[in-house]
Amino acid sequence: MRIDYGKQKIFSKDISLTKKALKKPFLTQGKNVNLFEKKIQSFLKVKHSIVCNSGTSAIHLALSAIELKKNDIVLMPAINFIAAYNMSLSLGARVYLVDVNPITGQMMPENLLKVIKENRLKKIKVIITMYLGGAPENILSFYMIKKKFKCFLIEDSCHAFGSSYKINKKIYNIGSCTHSDISTFSFHPLKTITTGEGGAVTTNNSKIASKILLLRSHGLFRKNIKKYWDYQAKSIGFNYRLSDINCALGVSQMGSIQKIIKKRNKVVKLYKKKLLKLKKFISLPLYSKNIYSCCHLMLVSINFDKLKSNKEFFFDYMNKELIFPQQHYIPLFKVCKKKIDKKKFVNTLEFFKKSVSLPIFFSITTKQIDRVVNSIEKFIKINLRKNEKLF
Ligand SMILES: Cc1ncc(COP(=O)(O)O)c(C=O)c1O
Repeated sequence: MRIDYGKQKIFSKDISLTKKALKKPFLTQGKNVNLFEKKIQSFLKVKHSIVCNSGTSAIHLALSAIELKKNDIVLMPAINFIAAYNMSLSLGARVYLVDVNPITGQMMPENLLKVIKENRLKKIKVIITMYLGGAPENILSFYMIKKKFKCFLIEDSCHAFGSSYKINKKIYNIGSCTHSDISTFSFHPLKTITTGEGGAVTTNNSKIASKILLLRSHGLFRKNIKKYWDYQAKSIGFNYRLSDINCALGVSQMGSIQKIIKKRNKVVKLYKKKLLKLKKFISLPLYSKNIYSCCHLMLVSINFDKLKSNKEFFFDYMNKELIFPQQHYIPLFKVCKKKIDKKKFVNTLEFFKKSVSLPIFFSITTKQIDRVVNSIEKFIKINLRKNEKLF
């Protein structure tokens, strides 16, 4: 049976709660929306949580709420999903990509400062961080940079729902926005919890929150809630609402979040143990001790230089074994054919050359993990260079 890199977990109570929502009078703009938002708010310990219909719309809402406009400057990591990049460009912003750490694939604060300095950037509008795989690295450094340059800091936390970090013995949740202005999340089926498609924006800034509420639903505003037929447009807006059916699923999934994260951490631990024998060829990212990851991805780095092969052959080999690893991500400048100076992205290219995402999901079994590890071992054995030994 095939093993994909990710898979949602739908519990039976999720099905019954979602079914119930289908029988309610309001399939959208009903009570489940508020309930889901309240659950997120109290889980993350944040003032405002606004749900929407994808992680991409969450980013668009966040950037629109800070009034990102033509020629504004945005900085983000070069290893990234395309959503934050696209949404910034759609608002006319100038995007500067930043080199990442070659092992974690995450933006490095020192590289961020380098890009700011080299390009003599004075008026930065927003820095968008992204915690690849779910591990929230360097939060405090990014927060200091935000303070120094008096710009917004948005966390594209789509990989990190349920992750947290410790500063001076105090634990903060990603999405609590203690060290950022806004966090955005996705509830796509492969994320920590799912609503089918879905997303959320969190913030402690009440002004930003009210703007997002307006933008989510056409910019329309009712002065008197009882006069439901009387409304005005207060701003431009979109329809980024999340239906009550999706929210019911979200409410139910929130009840399983700790169980899901615990299991994903267990899977990572198992992989770590089982991959140890291949340590000459495979390494795992080492994260700071003060962070707790929801383990969205199982990232590994394969040293193809020691083999007579490359990543493309690796994917082909694994696919023949009915295992489907994934690439997170192809550098944005490659995906978007953006001209860059390769010398400034040495780490990004190094990360891209080696990194692979192995299968990780709630219901993965030890047998399946063994199958993945054994297939990697077979691939390495077949492709060993002369004079190179497996162990
Ligand atoms: C880092 C990151 N940002 C944004 C998104 C967009 O989320 P969605 O697919 O819900 O629009 C994703 C989804 O894969 C993502 O991984």
